[in-house]
Amino acid sequence: MNSALSASTPIAVIGAGAMGAGIAQVAASAGHPVKLLDNRPGAAAQAVQGIAAQLNRLAEKGKLTAQAAQDTSARLSAAAQLSDLADCGLIIEAIVEDLQSKRKLFLDLEAIVSKDCILASNTSSISITAIGAVLAQPGRLAGLHFFNPAPLMALVEIVSGLGTEREIAERLFASAAAWGKTPVHTRSTPGFIVNRVARPYYAEGLRLLQEGAADPATMDACMREAGGFRMGPFELMDLIGHDVNFSVTRSVWNAFFNDQRFLPSLIQQELVDAGFLGRKNGRGFYDYREGAAAPTPKTEPQSQAMAALKTARVVVCGESAAAQALSSRLQSAGVASTAGPSQDGRIAEVLGAVLYVTDGRTATRRAAAQSDRNVVLIDLALDYSKAKRLAISVADQCAADAAAAAIGLLQAAGYAVSRFSDVPGLAVMRTVAMLANEAADAVNQGVCDVPSVDAAMRLGVNYPVGPLAWADQIGLGRVREVLGHLADSYGEDRYRISPLIQQRAYAGKGFHV
Ligand code: NAI
Repeated sequence: MNSALSASTPIAVIGAGAMGAGIAQVAASAGHPVKLLDNRPGAAAQAVQGIAAQLNRLAEKGKLTAQAAQDTSARLSAAAQLSDLADCGLIIEAIVEDLQSKRKLFLDLEAIVSKDCILASNTSSISITAIGAVLAQPGRLAGLHFFNPAPLMALVEIVSGLGTEREIAERLFASAAAWGKTPVHTRSTPGFIVNRVARPYYAEGLRLLQEGAADPATMDACMREAGGFRMGPFELMDLIGHDVNFSVTRSVWNAFFNDQRFLPSLIQQELVDAGFLGRKNGRGFYDYREGAAAPTPKTEPQSQAMAALKTARVVVCGESAAAQALSSRLQSAGVASTAGPSQDGRIAEVLGAVLYVTDGRTATRRAAAQSDRNVVLIDLALDYSKAKRLAISVADQCAADAAAAAIGLLQAAGYAVSRFSDVPGLAVMRTVAMLANEAADAVNQGVCDVPSVDAAMRLGVNYPVGPLAWADQIGLGRVREVLGHLADSYGEDRYRISPLIQQRAYAGKGFHV
């Protein structure tokens, strides 16, 4: 039974809000007759009209033929009551996010539909197991978790509760694929895949802010311009809305019995308390009110040491991605450098300064552990050859002229340099290591497999690379080292290393090889 539902199978979507309307559009575009039902009078008919208008706009833009828009609209109708849905082969619920409301709806549906009708919930946070517990046939209920806006976002999480029959999950998987989506299987655990694995993206940003690492605009710029993320964590939280983002964090944290990994942030609590909810009401981390100045990242001014670089001995050490990119960027800028060895992971030496990519220790701790005191750390970049900006930190023991030389060298190589306070792991490295750690735990705990978590994070939240593929690229030994150093620095359970990262790193294996 694990083939896709045939396109002639009637489908119903209950709840004609933002998600329900989007899901109805997806199913109708794939050829299904779709009925929309909402308990708010007129809402379903209004949604049907809204979808038709949306399809016409797509046709005007040439993304769809006028005929296809018309045919798709003709397949959509508003239903008046639950009993109108008796002939449906699949019913997708997208009503209010409340367990009792969802349970009641599915119980009422069971009394109406045929025994082989599949029931699905679009819930983003409620346990499918808990919804199904009250049903006579819990095996036919699964989560079908679309992302907003459903017509545009490719990812669909197919969520299996304890009672969900495998065949039902497979059938939904095949159907979502037939609708042009990229489905992934996940077990019904808190946050499923995306809302769980994405938590560190916000949490590490908030933690760094709390520790005064840098201001939001500077961290956002580093996450975009070095990390390759489409939006930095602060602008993204402002867009999502702090009320929504904070409540998802709290719900995942509560659902994991207050696991420190998911600890909510006092900073975000305060924004919610203040009513600074983000873009939607004009103020969050940033000020969106008319006339407010656009946020600008802090960038080091042109280093005094730039002139001295012309005659200085610049050594680029080793063959790491950071060193190779530095060497070729310096060459393009006409700055001569020589190649040198890198026994201790250093990537460059200039005028007494030694540069390393962060390994999760502070620069000060690293300097204390070795004879070279003039330690300058650079952050991770997705691609050092293309990155526009790098975060750096400087050891407390580092002489000012050595720090200026290191900054000048990076500037000569074309990087905008943002100096952070000397925090462990800087921004991109620390965040990516924690994303990979959570992704690895999800795999280790049987929530999903490796390709699914990577696909989910690329397609559900637009990460430039899946977190486990990224961990492979960094090297699992390095990721484990970064996490270990974060754990030492903070002594908190939050930074405990996933057993799967440990295991694969010891085995000398990556996740994808
Ligand atoms: P919404 O508030 O825009 O729409 C919900 C609709 O359901 C409303 O039109 C309401 O009148 C109707 N409704 C409420 N109770 C009903 C009932 N018992 N019977 C029939 N209709 C009922 O909400 P939205 O954002 O579309 O979310 C719907 C579901 O999708 C929730 O479970 C939510 O967690 C989930 N979801 C939301 C996402 C989002 O980004 N908004 C993303 C993924 C999932």
